[in-house]
Amino acid sequence: MSTINYSEKIPNNVNLSEDRTLQRALEHWQPNYLNWWNDMGPDHSQGHDVYLRTAVNTTPEGWAQFGHVKMPDYRWGIFLAQQEEGRKVNFGENKGMDAWQDVPGEHRANLRRIIVTQGDTEPASVEQQRHLGLTAPSQYDLRNLFQINVEEGRHLWAMVYLLQKHFGRDGREEAEALLQRNSGDADKPRILEAFNEETPDWLAFYMFTYFTDRDGKFQLNALAESGFDPLSRTCRFMLTEEAHHMFVGESGISRTIARTCEIMKQYGIEDPAQVRAKGVIDLPTIQRYLNFHFSVTIDLFGADQSSNAALFYSAGLKGRYEESKRTDDHVLKNDHYKILEVSNGKLVEREVPMLNSLNEVLRDDYIRDSVAGIGRWNRVIEKAGFAFRLSAPHKAFNRHIGSFSGIKVSPDGQLLSEADWEANVRNWLPSEEDRAYVASLMGRVIEPGKMANWIAPPPIGINRQPVDFDYVRFN
Ligand SMILES: [Fe+2]
Ligand SMILES: [Fe+2]
Repeated sequence: MSTINYSEKIPNNVNLSEDRTLQRALEHWQPNYLNWWNDMGPDHSQGHDVYLRTAVNTTPEGWAQFGHVKMPDYRWGIFLAQQEEGRKVNFGENKGMDAWQDVPGEHRANLRRIIVTQGDTEPASVEQQRHLGLTAPSQYDLRNLFQINVEEGRHLWAMVYLLQKHFGRDGREEAEALLQRNSGDADKPRILEAFNEETPDWLAFYMFTYFTDRDGKFQLNALAESGFDPLSRTCRFMLTEEAHHMFVGESGISRTIARTCEIMKQYGIEDPAQVRAKGVIDLPTIQRYLNFHFSVTIDLFGADQSSNAALFYSAGLKGRYEESKRTDDHVLKNDHYKILEVSNGKLVEREVPMLNSLNEVLRDDYIRDSVAGIGRWNRVIEKAGFAFRLSAPHKAFNRHIGSFSGIKVSPDGQLLSEADWEANVRNWLPSEEDRAYVASLMGRVIEPGKMANWIAPPPIGINRQPVDFDYVRFN
């Protein structure tokens, strides 16, 4: 048995060295985690020195310490946000009670399920992104990919900490199972469908980090409201890291659009075939990728009507986005919400009890947030003088979960026959050819400061370093 000093090896603010049971659990789990990282983490990256930020504590200076490090040696830490004195359960039927520091027996199964479902997404995204390092458009981007990968690994640690600390033997078994399921695996897939999709190219990666990491933001915010205090504190700290992931997505798409517009302007072209001939990604293809990632991601919020969502809320386990800032009664028994459904061949609004609609409430909050960034992308196109505009597809478009899963709807919200859908789907979702074209542009660029032809350089580097800094040292 190894004699690693875990409290040094694993930066933490949970008094790891004083909890023998937890230490033993981690001693079993950590080598398995590292095996998983080596097998399923970033391809051909073990020897690189990468300019990464590491959290060594939760203070403003401590959570972002930068330096070159080999990823298998990354110090995946365990951090909870500061405990709030006298924190209460802030919503549901237990509202006003002291927040739970231990798992309440009657909610044990539901809490475990919530934590496992969140935990499962973290390593899944690392698996989905594992080949992207081989086609990074620049060293700067390669470093950002690896930063996201190690932090998703840390988020797995965060959830595994909760399981091992608070759920006994069940928790240890769940922690092992989190390393055994794999994204896209036919026998042991990841729990949620969007996390079994491939992330085959960098356009998909930026869309994923913009849209799907944003789902993470909303789920974590809802869990940060939890009456189970350790979950709340864990999620609050994870959110500080999540912001960078979404930044990578938003700025990556923005730079892709900027480069496309630059070429369109330079040659006076707008036709997608001509744009492609210049080796950049035409705007309609970017729209189709957007449609795909948007629709797959909003499925992650679950069915629009859900008794589980009502149960999780009423029990005080999972709140709404910014629950504590809302001014209603935080019990919601007498409240209603308008959902959209199909009736007589039309999409119509219907008022339903709010408690059963909390998935939809969170989805609608998410949609508002993601649309804002699309507006910022459009300003890049507008400034370049082109009329094309990107937009979010209708929320019933390409859905596979909830009441829209059985119907076909166009991006502008028209109900379609199967035949109409088939005739047009190539215009709305990435086709094989689109994906092949984007794949054809992907080639590794590793000289410091150089960019692949299809993407513009970032305006500034990471941690105030220059854009041509050696973010990754290849060994
Ligand atoms: Fe995460
Ligand atoms: Fe993330």
